[in-house]
Amino acid sequence: MANNIEAIRGMKDYLPEEIVLWQRIEKTLKKVLDGYGYSEIRLPIVEHTLLFQRAIGKVTDVVEKEMYSFDDRKGDNLTLRPEGTAGCVRAGIKHSLIYKKEQRLWYIGPMFRYERPQKGRYRQFYQIGVEVFGQEGPDVDAELILIIARWWRELGISHHVSLEINSLGSMEARARYRNALVAFLVQNKEHLNENCRRRIYTNPMRVLDTKNSDIQALLKKAPVITDYLDDDSRFHFYSLCELLDLSCIPYRVNPHLVRGLDYYNRTVFEWITTFLGSQSTVCGGGHYDSLVEQLGGRATPAVGFAMGLERLVLLMQTVNPYFAVSNRIDAYLVVAGDKAKREALQLAEQLRDALPSLRMMTNYGVGSFKKQLAIADKQGARIAIIIGENETSTLQVIIKDLITGKQEKLARLDLVSRLISFLEIK
Ligand code: HAM
Repeated sequence: MANNIEAIRGMKDYLPEEIVLWQRIEKTLKKVLDGYGYSEIRLPIVEHTLLFQRAIGKVTDVVEKEMYSFDDRKGDNLTLRPEGTAGCVRAGIKHSLIYKKEQRLWYIGPMFRYERPQKGRYRQFYQIGVEVFGQEGPDVDAELILIIARWWRELGISHHVSLEINSLGSMEARARYRNALVAFLVQNKEHLNENCRRRIYTNPMRVLDTKNSDIQALLKKAPVITDYLDDDSRFHFYSLCELLDLSCIPYRVNPHLVRGLDYYNRTVFEWITTFLGSQSTVCGGGHYDSLVEQLGGRATPAVGFAMGLERLVLLMQTVNPYFAVSNRIDAYLVVAGDKAKREALQLAEQLRDALPSLRMMTNYGVGSFKKQLAIADKQGARIAIIIGENETSTLQVIIKDLITGKQEKLARLDLVSRLISFLEIK
C-alpha cells in the first residue's frame, strides 16, 4: 500500500465537529461588526514579498524568519500573507478606499507564519482583523476596544481575558526612546542572552518582549517609553484611558508592550488570557499612521487589530464549552413507497420555505424503514418525519420522537406549526 501523505506540520484540518463552534463564534463576531457599521473586505492570500518587508519591517521575526516566500514561474518573489494589515493597506491605496473618511473594514481568513508549532501557535492560522482608515483617534481606538469587549461579552468570556495598553508615541518620540533603550542595553550587555544582544542594534524594542525571566527582571530598570512621549501622543493616550474609564473597561498600562511588527505608533494594545499557556495573546493591534504613506499612498491615519481564531476557539473550549451547539440535525425525513418518494421532495422544500432555520436531511427512500431510522439516529436527528404509503393517500405524516420513541400522526397542513412547537424553531 502506498505511504500516506501527511498534512504539513503546523497546518491543521478543521473537522465538521469542530466547525460548529467556529461557525457559531464567527457568526457572533460578524454580527457585532455589522452592528458598528464595519464592512467586509476579501484580500488575496498571496502578495509580493516586498509588501511585507516594507510594511512589517525587515528586522522583525515575521519577515526575517517566518515568511513562506517563493518565486513563481515568472520569477516574481511572492509570500503567503503572514498578516492582513499590509494587504488591506495595499488594496485600500489601489482602490482609493482609504481616503474616504468613514472607512471601517474587516476581514477573515488564513495567515501563514513559519513558527515552531505548539498549542495556540500554528503555521497556518486564521485571523479576523479590523482596519479603520482616516481617523486620528483616540475615540476610534476606544471603539475598537469596545467592539472586542462586546465580543467577549457575547461569547461569555469577559472574565477570562484582560486588556493591556501602551503608547509608542510619535515616530520621533519612538526614535528618542530607542536611543535611550539602546544605551541601557549596551550597559547591561553581559546580562543579555544572544538573541537579545543581537537585537540591541537591529530591533531593540523587541528585547522588551523577551520571555526570559532574568532579562525581564533586568528590564524593570530600563527606561520606559511613557517618559519619552511627545505632548500630542501623551494627550492622545490619556484621552483613550479616560474613554475606557468612562466605558468601564478595565485595562493595565504596560510600558513594555511594543508589539512584534514595526508599523505601529501611538496606541498599541493586546488582550491576553492566562488559559492558553505561553501563547497568551488572543488579540492585538494599534495605530499605524505612517504605513499608508510608506506603501505609496497619501498620509492617512490608521488603526486596527487582529484576533487569532484558533486561540479564541481554544479559549472557548476551555472556559465556555457550552457555547457550541452540537452538529445535530433537527429532523430526518424518512420515506417509503414510490408515491411517498415523489411527495417527499416537495414536502421538504415546503418545510424549508416555511422554516428557514430547520436543519433537516431527507432520505429519498433508500433502504428499508428500519435502516432509514437508524441513519436518522446516527445523524443525531431529534425527530424523524415519516411518510409511508398510508400517509400519502390521507395527506398525513408521522412524527417520531427519536429520544422517547413516541409517534404521532398529524395532517400535513399542521406539520409546520407542530415542528415550531416541538423543535422550538422559527
Ligand atoms: P499579530 O499580533 O501578529 O498582529 O497577530 C494577531 C493575532 O494573531 C495574535 O494575537 C494571535 O492571536 C494570532 N496569531 C499570530 N500568530 C499566530 C500563530 N502562529 N498561530 C496562531 N495564532 C497566531 C497582526 O497580525 C496585525 N496585523 C494586527 C493588526 C491589525 N494591527 C493593526 N491592524
